[in-house]
Amino acid sequence: MLKPEEYKFFLDYVYGLIVVDTDANIIFMSKQFADYIDVNQDEVVGKPIKEVFPPTKMDKALDKGEPEIGDFYIIEGKAVASTRVPLRKNGKLVGLMEYDLFQDTEMLEQFIENYINLDEEIKYYKEEVQKLRSARYSIDNIIGNSQAIETLKKEIRYAARTNSTVLIQGETGSGKELVAHSVHNLSKRYFQNFIRINAASIPENLVESELFGYEPGAFTGAKPKGMKGKFELADKGTIFIDEIEELPLSIQVKLLRAIQEREIDKIGGKKSIPIDIRIICATNQDLEQLVRENKFRKDLYYRLNVVKINVPPLRERREDIPKIAEYTISILNNMLGKNIKGIHSKVIEELMKHDWPGNVRELQNVIEKAMNFAEGNMLRVKDFNFLFAEKCMDPDMASIEWNNPIEEIKRNAEREFIIKALDLNDGNRTKTAELLKISRSLLYQKMKRLNIEYKR
Ligand SMILES: Nc1ncnc2c1ncn2[C@@H]1O[C@H](COP(=O)(O)OP(=O)(O)OP(=O)(O)O)[C@@H](O)[C@H]1O
Ligand SMILES: [Mg+2]
Repeated sequence: MLKPEEYKFFLDYVYGLIVVDTDANIIFMSKQFADYIDVNQDEVVGKPIKEVFPPTKMDKALDKGEPEIGDFYIIEGKAVASTRVPLRKNGKLVGLMEYDLFQDTEMLEQFIENYINLDEEIKYYKEEVQKLRSARYSIDNIIGNSQAIETLKKEIRYAARTNSTVLIQGETGSGKELVAHSVHNLSKRYFQNFIRINAASIPENLVESELFGYEPGAFTGAKPKGMKGKFELADKGTIFIDEIEELPLSIQVKLLRAIQEREIDKIGGKKSIPIDIRIICATNQDLEQLVRENKFRKDLYYRLNVVKINVPPLRERREDIPKIAEYTISILNNMLGKNIKGIHSKVIEELMKHDWPGNVRELQNVIEKAMNFAEGNMLRVKDFNFLFAEKCMDPDMASIEWNNPIEEIKRNAEREFIIKALDLNDGNRTKTAELLKISRSLLYQKMKRLNIEYKR
C-alpha cells in the first residue's frame, strides 16, 4: 500500500488534467497533458492557461461557473472531449479543473465502439425484459380466413386504435388470450408492459394486493418494502384481466374506481396513485346474465363493455380447421422433433364434423395426441381413434351415444384414463388393473368396450 499522498503521483497520468485558479493561471497540469502539448510540466505553473494552451475553454468556463460535461471540440483536426468542473470552497469559486475524455480520433473511435457495444447490450436486455413482460402473440398468430376470423381481425384493429376498455367474450379455448395480446401489440402501447392477471387463479384474500399493491407495513406478513400491484406495473401499458367474472364483488368496486378516476389506492397507502392504463378483460361467461343474477356489478359491466369483441367458437368457422391443423402441426413438429407432413383428407373431413367444445385448444390437443400415435409422416384416421372411436369403429354405439354428451364425456374420460394407466405400467395389464383398483378381467372388458388396442 502507498501513503495517501503518494497516490497523487498518478494524477500525472490523467488525460488532459489541468487545474487553474480564478485568474485562469495554471496550478497543476498532468504530465500526460504537458507532454501532449510539448511543454515542461513544472515551468508552466503560475502561467495563464490561455498563453500556454491558446485553444483552451477554461477561461470562459470560469466566467460561466457551471460544469461542462463532455464538451466536444476539434483542435488541429483532433477530436477532443473535455469535462470542466468549477472548484468551490465553502461555496466560493476558487478555481476550475478540466480533464479529457479523449484527445484524438482513435480514442474517440474506441469510445464510440464501447458506447455502441453498451448500447447494444442495453437494447438486448431491454428486449429480454420486453419479452418477459410483453404480449407474446400478435394478430398473425390468429389463423384462419373464414368470414368470422376476418371480422374478428377487423374488430381487433379497431380496438387497438382506441384507448377504450375492451371486453373479450368467447368460449374456452377459442383464442381470447390471443386476441388480448394482439390488441396490445397493435396499439400505441405495444412497447410498454402487457401485464396479465387471471382473476380465477388468485386466492380471494390476495386479489386486492395483487391488483393494487400495498405500502410497507400495510399488514402483518407484508413484504417490508411494500409491493407494487399489477396496475402499477402496467402503468403506461396494458393490463389484461382474464376470467374477470371471478373478481370478488368487493374488488369490483375498486376496479370501477380505478377505471373511472384513473387512479388506484394501495393497501395502507395515504395517497391515490394516478395511472395511465389500458384495460382488457376476458370472460367465457355471459356477463350480462351474471349481472341479472347480481353476481356481477352492473355499473362495472357497463364500464368494461365499451368495446366488445366476441371470439367465435370453432364450430362456427369450421372452414378454418384445416389451416389451424396445419399450423399446429408445424409448431408441434418443431417442439416435438417430429416430421409430420400433413393430414389424410379423410381425417380432415372427420375433424370438420366434430363440434369442438374445447375449440382451438381442443383441436391442438387432439393433433398433439395423434402426432404421438403416428407412425408414418401423414396423420391417418387410426391416429385419431381416441377421438373418432365411437364414430368410426362402432357405428351402432355411436348413434346411441353421440346424442348423449354426458355418456360420451364419461366414456372418453374413462378411455383416456385407462390409456394413461397402461402407459404408466408399460402396458402391463396386471399392474394397470392394480393401479385402477379393478380386476384384470374388468380391465379387459373395459378395454374391449372402449376400443383400447394397447400394444406393448
Ligand atoms: N385462430 C387461432 N389460430 C391459431 N391458434 C389459435 C387460434 N385461436 C386460438 N389459438 C390457440 O389456441 C389455444 C387457446 O387459445 P387461448 O388461450 O387464447 O384461449 P382462451 O379463449 O383464452 O381460452 P380460456 O377461456 O380457456 O382461457 C392457444 O394455444 C392459442 O394460441
Ligand atoms: Mg384464456
